[in-house]
Amino acid sequence: MKKSNFYSKKVMENFRNPKNYGEIKNPDGVGKVGNIYCGDVMWLYLKVGKKQGGQDYIKDAKFQTYGCLAAVASSNVLAQSIKNKTIDQALKTDRQKIVRELDGLPPLKIHCSVLAADALYEAIYDYLLKNKKKIPDNLLKKHLAIEKEKKEIEKRYKGWTEMEKKSLKNEKNKF
Ligand code: FES
Repeated sequence: MKKSNFYSKKVMENFRNPKNYGEIKNPDGVGKVGNIYCGDVMWLYLKVGKKQGGQDYIKDAKFQTYGCLAAVASSNVLAQSIKNKTIDQALKTDRQKIVRELDGLPPLKIHCSVLAADALYEAIYDYLLKNKKKIPDNLLKKHLAIEKEKKEIEKRYKGWTEMEKKSLKNEKNKF
């Protein structure tokens, strides 16, 4: 993967045609995260099903974001790549994987891929918690770190969650 200060073709394709943009009605898990650097916000919605062997898997994933071009592209590849994966497999997704799938991101935009990865961890955490399932230790650690960051963002950008959600509703037909 070549380092570049420009967006790759894959980034532009995923931004222009984000097939996984949108909301899932009655989701099984929701991840809502913010980016401390820019105040952008993202929601990831999951629908979970059961494989024949009884394992939980991600049947569908959609996202909404009030983030930049790189955030839209990162969320779109993330949502695509976790579909049909078991919860354990999906948890192996990290920001490096997202960046690889996009054929790289400019160094200044790497933090945008963190938003997508964190939204995934939070959505899975939400699903496991609601269904009283065991939460792996490393997921719990990530959740606590994300929660801490959310409080910082709330302080820095007062009322960001309400504001951003309202803006998303108004822009529902943007994509
Ligand atoms: Fe905010 Fe990219 S600049 S997510």
